[in-house]
Amino acid sequence: MKEQSKATLSFPDGTAPIELPIYSGTIGPQVIDIRKLYAQTDRFTFDPGFMSTAACESKITYIDGDKGELLYRGYPIEQLAEHCDYLQTCYLLLNGELPDDEQRRDFENRVTNHTMVHEQMTRFLQGFRRDAHPMAVLVGMVGALSAFYHDSLDISDPEHRFVSAIRLIAKMPTLVAMAYKYSMGQPFMYPLNRLSYSANFMRMMFGTPCEDYEPNDVLVRALDRILILHADHEQNASTSTVRLAGSSGANPFACIAAGIATLWGPAHGGANEASLLMLRDIQREGGVERIGEFIAKVKDKHSNVKLMGFGHRVYKNYDPRAKLMRETSHEVLGELGLHDDPLFALAMKLEKIALEDDYFVQRKLYPNVDFYSGIVQKALGIPTEMFTCIFALARTVGWIAQWGEMIADPDQKIGRPRQLYTGHARRDVRVPAKRKG
Ligand code: SDX
Repeated sequence: MKEQSKATLSFPDGTAPIELPIYSGTIGPQVIDIRKLYAQTDRFTFDPGFMSTAACESKITYIDGDKGELLYRGYPIEQLAEHCDYLQTCYLLLNGELPDDEQRRDFENRVTNHTMVHEQMTRFLQGFRRDAHPMAVLVGMVGALSAFYHDSLDISDPEHRFVSAIRLIAKMPTLVAMAYKYSMGQPFMYPLNRLSYSANFMRMMFGTPCEDYEPNDVLVRALDRILILHADHEQNASTSTVRLAGSSGANPFACIAAGIATLWGPAHGGANEASLLMLRDIQREGGVERIGEFIAKVKDKHSNVKLMGFGHRVYKNYDPRAKLMRETSHEVLGELGLHDDPLFALAMKLEKIALEDDYFVQRKLYPNVDFYSGIVQKALGIPTEMFTCIFALARTVGWIAQWGEMIADPDQKIGRPRQLYTGHARRDVRVPAKRKG
């Protein structure tokens, strides 16, 4: 980043004006460097929810919310989704460039040879109820990985960081599939090294030891594209959590577990599950005819009802991933002969009505990645409560790439925000006078 100019901040109370450097990046908004503000003026900035705050410098992902543009290391998401697979995208996010043939083979082999988890992890699962939400299981199991890999926890060692990244990318499909099989009371399926990353995941999810399972290529490609679309997304809530956890020196498995916990919220990665449940509720209450009534509820502030899968802190235009997800839904439903899937038809109708309604137009609320992802995942046979686990599986590479970028930064410091305190000023505990006698 290079200094472009300076901003001058003046105060009404005679505090000396302060000059703050303004930096430009390659593309996107400039930033005002306020790091010296408190030391020089005894004042903090105030930005709950980080509406106007750049928390770091990064070279990994760029989002233009007004244009609806998403770039991974400069490549548009549309081109990656069309010409690359998920492991090539993982290599790109981690290393900054797409792999050549030899690099691709080596990376795929490394990932393939780390897909098994320690056998004792199966016993760890037994502690959960069968009906536990799979995200609760996933948070627990990923955090527990640090109990098994003492040989790669020196985060100052680039090789250890790379081994941890490979292990996490490789083992997430195995852990997610184990969480699903455990909820079904079915035996776990071991990874099969001859299958591709996404085909292997489909087999671990839907295969059983009783018969051979040959994944459907169209469905595998659709899943692989879903993983690409969810791989990274700049400094979203879960990625910011991973960075903050990592800034204390916590091991990468603990940091990713913190990211998974954050992603679970319905305002974030939990929105795909919430969006499908919303469509199902509308369907159950009468379908397309009930859309008007539902939209009215959404517009009524007292109802606390949101149109799940709509709106975004950054995108004030169509989320490019939502477009690609809608196309993927179409492809998968077509492949499965589900052209008239009622939920897909309902979603398209709901989208059309919302995009013509002033309430949504004024607030620039468009479908985000979560609006269609539930429909395509349901068509792939993935149960609703597993949707956010798939999101976490895909986002692991983004989290670990952003974590690695932060740890490798020589100026990295522990993240420690301050506050505007509006509680009681100092006061003393009232001690009741001692009774005489
Ligand atoms: C993800 O950050 C990322 O990059 C996240 C993500 C990623 O890849 O990591 O893209 C993944 O989390 C996508 C977002 C998934 N969440 C949802 O679909 C849940 C529904 N959406 C909302 O909760 C909301 O849109 C957020 C949380 C996504 C964004 O919230 P903001 O930016 O804080 O905006 P806001 O809540 O202040 O909303 C602005 C206005 C408000 O109305 P007014 O007070 O101005 O009258 O828009 C309204 C909100 O009430 N609004 C909605 C709405 N989203 C915002 N009204 C109805 N339905 C919605 N979905």
